[in-house]
Amino acid sequence: MKITSDFLVIGSGIAGLSYALKVADTGTVSIITKRTISETATNLAQGGIASVFSTQDSFDAHIRDTMVAGAFLSHEDIVRIVVESGPQAIHDLIDWGVQFTKNADDTYALTREGGHSARRILHSKDMTGFEIERALVAAVRAHPNITIHENHIAIDLISQAKATHRRLKPDRCLGAYVLDIDSNEVITFGAHFTVLATGGSGKVYLYTCNPDVATGDGVAMAYRAGATIANMEFIQFHPTTLFHPHAKSFLISEAVRGEGAILKRRDGTAFMASYHELKDLAPRDIVARAIDNEMKTYGDDCVFLDITHRGADYIKDRFPNIYETCLSYGIDMTKEPIPVVPAAHYLCGGVKIDTFGETDIQNLFAIGEVSCSGLHGANRLASNSLLEGVVYADRAASRSLERLADKQADFPSIEAWDSGSATDSDEEVVVAHNWDEIRRCMWNYVGIVRSTKRLTRALRRIKMIQEEIADYYWDFYVTSDLIELRNIATIAELIVLCALERKESRGLHYTIDYPETDDIHWKHDTLMRKEF
Ligand code: SIN
Repeated sequence: MKITSDFLVIGSGIAGLSYALKVADTGTVSIITKRTISETATNLAQGGIASVFSTQDSFDAHIRDTMVAGAFLSHEDIVRIVVESGPQAIHDLIDWGVQFTKNADDTYALTREGGHSARRILHSKDMTGFEIERALVAAVRAHPNITIHENHIAIDLISQAKATHRRLKPDRCLGAYVLDIDSNEVITFGAHFTVLATGGSGKVYLYTCNPDVATGDGVAMAYRAGATIANMEFIQFHPTTLFHPHAKSFLISEAVRGEGAILKRRDGTAFMASYHELKDLAPRDIVARAIDNEMKTYGDDCVFLDITHRGADYIKDRFPNIYETCLSYGIDMTKEPIPVVPAAHYLCGGVKIDTFGETDIQNLFAIGEVSCSGLHGANRLASNSLLEGVVYADRAASRSLERLADKQADFPSIEAWDSGSATDSDEEVVVAHNWDEIRRCMWNYVGIVRSTKRLTRALRRIKMIQEEIADYYWDFYVTSDLIELRNIATIAELIVLCALERKESRGLHYTIDYPETDDIHWKHDTLMRKEF
């Protein structure tokens, strides 16, 4: 089967849905999403979306905070574009129906998070992402030009070079092969413009607060298609996820520290003052490393986050979701500190894009967490990611709409997916085992503190698993588990290769072999490209 549309959007979080809404009045849009439409990282985002909305704040201050958090690897021109586009992006969201929390005087309530020098985070209590996803899903469902394909997972991008068996530079994207998970059929989706909005890759680590869908599919597909990938060594570990055997790394928003919570040892001693002058509101890389150090020094399984001094009424009103969730695990955060540990949270690198979100494959865009725009540098400033998603959706939409005018009327012919001599698998245990091995290996050897020896060991294991996957992949019909496994193996490899390449410590990449920041040799992005 073949489905064609003007725009193919892969992923249904804030970036993908915003893009779809921006282009849908002009052309047809297919959104493919591998579970239900709202199973996205956006939906789980708690803290909020950063933008300059207060008279006590300024674009320059937001730019400075982003540059400092990013350890000066962020591209200042990009930071300026995103920050200055912030207020318009917020108004777009409000126009699509998003309701942000307001003060009694009808102004928007602004919270603080680590690394921000001012209150500038718009939020919907502690469920900002849920509210944004709700509004955007309602808007795309109501648009007659948008078709949503749930339970559809992209296998690979289709490039003109592949379709025509020619070497092309630059190559052009023609769409994607997509598995309909319910019918097991591989469908050819052809499109003038393909947009990767697939989010991040937290599932490559054993402990992550990302949803199950975060398997790095967009980065892996773009890499296989020949696009440049950047800065994969910069994996952000969120300092505070709930430590509980059944909680599956539930996030305790940084906004809790923004509103006064203090990190403490088991004996009640606050410790962040000995790591950074901003104490509990230091940038995330510093706080995560401090917690890692505390746990190792004192042999503890977790540290504790204490906000009891703010009083029960305030806590229940400001953080209803966190309060209820903690309570369901037997922890009353109004009366006792919350046990917390760091977990993989955000991919700062990704598919390298230009200022309009286009990759180095023509008509292939990447927006949101899947991309590396230059905004986050070596460490993302909290709540800059939802902002980046909306701003780049707008920029990518304007570039594609400009180009739609001179699109070719017909699509080049694309060969249908060929399953060759594949058969049904009788060894699915291999897939499950390899998944587990990659995630453990990444957690143990490629985590918050790295060394060349551990990275090299990880690379050896990942290469072996990749060989097994390559055999397995071609012998059996594709399944969504197998597609995701192949993708997380590619992501693991890219993270380790980038980490080995960077011979310094900067932002989220800390290695005991090169503990200093080296601006002379390493103040640049780490780039990876598959050679054909
Ligand atoms: C949080 O609520 O702590 C997450 C915010 C973010 O990652 O930007």
